[in-house]
Amino acid sequence: MNILLFGPPGAGKGTQSAFLVEDLKMKHISTGDLFRHNMKNETPLGLEAKQYIDAGNYVPDDVTIRMLKAALEELDGGQEFILDGFPRTLPQAEALDQLMKEAGKEVGGAYFLEVPEEQLVKRLSGRRLCKSCGAVYHVDTKPPADGKSCDSCGSQDIYQRTDDQPEAIRERLKVYAEKTLPLKNFYKGQGKLTELDGTGELAEVYERLKASITASGS
Ligand code: AP5
Repeated sequence: MNILLFGPPGAGKGTQSAFLVEDLKMKHISTGDLFRHNMKNETPLGLEAKQYIDAGNYVPDDVTIRMLKAALEELDGGQEFILDGFPRTLPQAEALDQLMKEAGKEVGGAYFLEVPEEQLVKRLSGRRLCKSCGAVYHVDTKPPADGKSCDSCGSQDIYQRTDDQPEAIRERLKVYAEKTLPLKNFYKGQGKLTELDGTGELAEVYERLKASITASGS
């Protein structure tokens, strides 16, 4: 079972992927996390990506597709995975189909998390992350248990992403509507699209997602 999780910025893709990893032992491949890892280590890829990401834009397709191809090649043969944040454009979706075909694999389903825009803005502006392990928090809905250190690794380095500032959030939502939303039709045409309500408690959303994945047998 290889799946895609997609939806607007802040829909909960990273949060729900973490549940899937824990519960179903799937491998999580997030292009956003891969870019942030490269930015943290100031690699040439990270330095190139930073200028786009901080402004709320997408990293060019050729750079992103190359990075994703390398990540897929690192998987153990039979390892099942969740792609979070890829594809985001039509050329990326077409490249993914080609890569999967070459590897003799298949995308089982594309799960789309639907959340109204005003909730997305609240989620993104209150999001905090652990710099050390990447765990995701929210100042109101999911603060660290002791209010200051990461529940997963104990680090006290909890930070706010530069692209979670109001101006970058507005730009990300705009770019998303223009470039990523049309992918719903791409996956609908392939009979792989499942639209899910991404609102409600974290566990409720996960139950919906898991039930849907299990029912489809993807
Ligand atoms: P990426 O990191 O993938 O950003 P994104 O898609 O904008 O998604 P987010 O990480 O912001 O949100 P999410 O849906 O994962 O939500 P989360 O679970 O954190 O990418 C960053 C950037 O990298 C992109 O903007 C782009 O520049 C570049 N990039 C990445 N992939 C690319 C590609 N393929 N092509 C080109 N460029 C690419 O949740 C958000 C918050 O809400 C958290 O605080 C969480 O606690 C809270 N929350 C989650 N669920 C709920 C709930 N049910 N109720 C209440 N709060 C909730």
